[in-house]
Amino acid sequence: MEEQNGGSPPDIAGAGAVGARVQAANTGGHTHGRAPTGQLDSFIYLDHAATSPLHPEVLAAMQPYLTHAHGNASSLHRFGREARRAVEQAREQLAAWMGCDPSELVFTSGGTEADHSALCGLWLAAGRRGHIVTTMVEHHAVLHTCDFLERLGAQVTRVAPGKDGVVRAKDVLAAIRPDTVVVSVMWVNNELGSVEPVLDIAAAVRANHPHVRVHTDAVQGLAALRLNLHEAGVDAAAFSAHKVGGPKGVGALYIRRGTPWWPVLHGGSQERGRRAGTENVAGIVGFGAAIERLRRDWDRHEAHLLRVRDRFWAEISRIPGVRRNSPADAVPGILNVAFAGVRNDRLLMRLDLMGVAASAGSACTAGSLEPSHVLSACGQTPDEVREAVRFSFSDATAEDEVVEAAARVRAAVTTLRERTGA
Ligand SMILES: Cc1ncc(COP(=O)(O)O)c(C=O)c1O
Repeated sequence: MEEQNGGSPPDIAGAGAVGARVQAANTGGHTHGRAPTGQLDSFIYLDHAATSPLHPEVLAAMQPYLTHAHGNASSLHRFGREARRAVEQAREQLAAWMGCDPSELVFTSGGTEADHSALCGLWLAAGRRGHIVTTMVEHHAVLHTCDFLERLGAQVTRVAPGKDGVVRAKDVLAAIRPDTVVVSVMWVNNELGSVEPVLDIAAAVRANHPHVRVHTDAVQGLAALRLNLHEAGVDAAAFSAHKVGGPKGVGALYIRRGTPWWPVLHGGSQERGRRAGTENVAGIVGFGAAIERLRRDWDRHEAHLLRVRDRFWAEISRIPGVRRNSPADAVPGILNVAFAGVRNDRLLMRLDLMGVAASAGSACTAGSLEPSHVLSACGQTPDEVREAVRFSFSDATAEDEVVEAAARVRAAVTTLRERTGA
């Protein structure tokens, strides 16, 4: 089996043929990112920051590992060796794109686990007492892990952002104390698309506080920015596959070589003893394939997102009483807006009926429309926060779709305002 290396699907019991059939089934007229199965053909999906549809190429790459190539990557026989080869190939694909060594990446069950393991592992390795600096705009994967560590004895400072959702590097640096052990600042905010000054913070921490470790939640950054982890100088970073056309339930944790860090999941010695549990081989292969596609299409991808976002904004900015919450220099995949007098829960339900899927910022709170902690931290009033809606795009989003979506948004806003007299 070893000779079969080189990126082609493994040929265990005819898996190659299956791969080819899947490829064929998925290339002809596939509307990935448009209508969820069995729903309105004209349904428009603008919630890619919550999750992006599995790309057909990714599905084709995964298929053999969901069927014939079913080995456990720890097994010594040929099925196991093939699974191991596929996992290591994916690790190399990720590392090449992210600018790190493959050995510095640990596969996880997603972004949440990667954030959790980074923060807990860094804090535990630093002596279980230290102070943590983070921001008020982090994803709950970071904020709730910090709450948990507080219960274990950590002290945590949560730095407030400006009105634009961006924390100032000087405020983060000013929060560092002699007992600070970890600084955690996200790369790109999931609700606003704002880019946080992680690079400046990492450089300053390295220069002035070399004992402090810097973690970044790069889950949304992956779809939006070219990153080079070694150049960025961070000690840890969290990634997730399902934001870039990969499968849900797989992610990666970057831990820079030599960083004091304790594993938090114990059991088998998978991932070189850094994360116990049988590897999700198909998911990991899918993550690798999603990254390959991102790498290949990067220039086109960036330009496309900008075009689609700007076109959508040009259309909806003509709706009276619209506000743009996302800063002008936010990444192009995320646009957060608000319509004066229109509650987001009503608007989102109306849009769903009209065939547009969007969200109110963080979709990760189990479908509940909790008021956004990010916009509250930006100083918005509870009423303003309740008007915020996030539209997010991917390269599967077509320009004609966003024009049509904008028309539906206008109609929905008008109807709701008529009903409520707003
Ligand atoms: C910024 C950010 N961090 C972490 C996560 C959690 O990632 P996962 O869904 O893979 O657990 C998300 C998911 O929305 C996110 O947007």
